[in-house]
Amino acid sequence: MKGIILAAGKGTRLYPMTKPVCKPLLPIYDKPLLYYPLEVLMKAEITDILIIIPPGEEKSFSELLGDGSRLGLSISYREQKVPKGIADAFLVGEDFIGTDGVCLILGDNIFYAPDFDRLLLEEKRKHQYASVFGYWVEDPRPFGVVEVNAEGYAVSIEEKPAVPRSNYIVPGLYFYDNDVVAKAKTLQPSARGELEITDINRLYMQEGKLSVCPLPREFTWFDAGTADSLLYAANSIKKMQDSGIFVGVLERIAWEKGYINEECLKQSCQEYENTQYGKYIRSLLQREKGR
Ligand code: DAU
Repeated sequence: MKGIILAAGKGTRLYPMTKPVCKPLLPIYDKPLLYYPLEVLMKAEITDILIIIPPGEEKSFSELLGDGSRLGLSISYREQKVPKGIADAFLVGEDFIGTDGVCLILGDNIFYAPDFDRLLLEEKRKHQYASVFGYWVEDPRPFGVVEVNAEGYAVSIEEKPAVPRSNYIVPGLYFYDNDVVAKAKTLQPSARGELEITDINRLYMQEGKLSVCPLPREFTWFDAGTADSLLYAANSIKKMQDSGIFVGVLERIAWEKGYINEECLKQSCQEYENTQYGKYIRSLLQREKGR
């Protein structure tokens, strides 16, 4: 399965912050926002990854992640010339997807749960056509909202409804079979002028093929799309890390999954030596030695 991170929005809701630096490269506490969705794909054991970026930004993204080999990944970049909507990711990424299934994650979504790896791998394993997650929120109106039947399949799905039919929203993490590319080609822009991911999901739903996995209550999810949510996300990550739970440490996942060797991990330790991030990576090596 291939992975796509959609990280090409203009970030105008964050102006003037995002005038010189695009949103996915902004810091969330001690790491760029982009690290968090990338960590999710790595946890799902997806190593062939396309990052869809805003025009003219390839240099800054590749300065951060290069071709991914330092993390044992294959990372490529493609520009989305015009932000036509989330479902446009399947048109921009058509060649990259080829004949495979694809997992799409939005570049501003942060997920955390202690056993998220297990949940993701389980979802990936049993996934057949289209699978999304359902996350309970008090006010679902700014999101895609889904209603689910007893068998775990969607029975209604709406984008930003004024009167939501449920409190379950669909976070920005989606698993699809290869049919998603053909489906994306049939979409028309919505009233707000976008190719909506919710319209893709509705097409699968109408065929009885959109399964919804409810996320457990203790699950943490943020959509870091506004100044307030960026700050909230940063504070939450800090709080977690102060209590010893590290999130978004890509080298750790790469190491745990066996994508990189000790030498590679040591290089990152040296590069990030003076930071909490680097110290954490070093502690992984020390723990391994102490076993
Ligand atoms: O965060 C979850 C929600 O994300 C879902 O519940 C909604 O169903 C889904 O439509 C989406 O809603 P948003 O209004 O939050 O999407 P937004 O326009 O903010 O885009 C999300 C990210 O995708 C953002 O980081 C920018 C990027 N993006 C967006 C568009 C429309 C692109 O890279 N290109 C685009 O054309």
